[in-house]
Amino acid sequence: MVDLKGQYDGIKDLVNSSIQEVLETTAYINGPKVHQFQKNLEQYLGVKHVIPCANGTDALQIAMMGLGLKPGDEVITADFTFAATVEVIALLQLTPVLVDVNEDDFNINIEAIKEAITPKTKAIVPVHLFGQCANMEAIMELAKAHNLFVIEDNAQAIGANYTFKNGKKAQAGTIGHVASTSFFPSKNLGCYGDGGAIFTNDDALAHTIRGIVNHGMYERYHHDVVGVNSRLDSVQAAVLDAKLPHLNTYNKKRREAADKYDAAFKNISNIVTPYRNGSEDSHVFHQYTLRILGSDRDALVKHLNENGIPCGVYYPIPLHKQKAYEDSRYNEADFPVTNQLVKDVISLPMHTELDDEQIEFITSTIIKFING
Ligand SMILES: Cc1ncc(COP(=O)(O)O)c(C=O)c1O
Repeated sequence: MVDLKGQYDGIKDLVNSSIQEVLETTAYINGPKVHQFQKNLEQYLGVKHVIPCANGTDALQIAMMGLGLKPGDEVITADFTFAATVEVIALLQLTPVLVDVNEDDFNINIEAIKEAITPKTKAIVPVHLFGQCANMEAIMELAKAHNLFVIEDNAQAIGANYTFKNGKKAQAGTIGHVASTSFFPSKNLGCYGDGGAIFTNDDALAHTIRGIVNHGMYERYHHDVVGVNSRLDSVQAAVLDAKLPHLNTYNKKRREAADKYDAAFKNISNIVTPYRNGSEDSHVFHQYTLRILGSDRDALVKHLNENGIPCGVYYPIPLHKQKAYEDSRYNEADFPVTNQLVKDVISLPMHTELDDEQIEFITSTIIKFING
């Protein structure tokens, strides 16, 4: 699905020398590389504060802790996402409220959010799924009207640009009150282990969060709030700082690969290619995800595997049907889209090193299978 070795080979000297600097200084924890990467990422995103942490799951949890959400507060999020999003809500004893998504962009559905809002609702967590922003303008309007926090789960869309109705643009992860991201190796900006970060433009919230990631300390050995230990280590920061200047090129390469996939599938009526929301740079294709209509998606997965083509089903089970998150309040009729998507979707190899020959082999194998 990804070619991390091919990508490393292209930037080997840069990454090696960046890591070497850390090894020479031995500043493995909270060293200058972490600070340097933080500053560079703030500049790239156009956001006031980036707070690096250990992974994207921690980033979400810490963002929620920073907002002071309390047990019993309801948090609305999408039924069709990776489990980390709902996991941290449940872990903090907040009440997850899963809602359905859109059929086109697979992102959280605005009408479903409206229906789910109650007096106990405190936050909405849109997930920018597969690399494309949720409808942030509508979400921010709803949040304002109901006095809710918006926490963007931006694990999959770093570098995506969201365009508002008035033409103004903003980077994914800089629109809500706070956002989280993941630097898991296969992410668009991935390190060589685990990593994550929280973004916000709110000075007070950034201060609170900086203490939470460091055992609740604002002054050494003074623990003012319950915190966690969640740090991006300096070696991972060194990798990320070497890769950040390449992020736009990497995202462009992903879009170009997506264009080639789209062109190959253009006339295949039962393949739905990914929807693109507005401007060219709105989708960074963390995943290239097709819907297979009227064919046996699982048989296609088997066929691709037999032909040596990796593929993935993200996600095969709606979160409201997962044992950990089942809730008698959910009604199946409220999840028609997610219930269908889990049967239809298939993600194809998507990375910065995909070449024309690989794309041709993948697409022709799929088309032959679909056409019988
Ligand atoms: C949407 C989403 N949220 C959160 C996470 C969690 O990130 P991490 O694996 O770094 O904890 C991921 C990672 O796969 C993700 O895709």
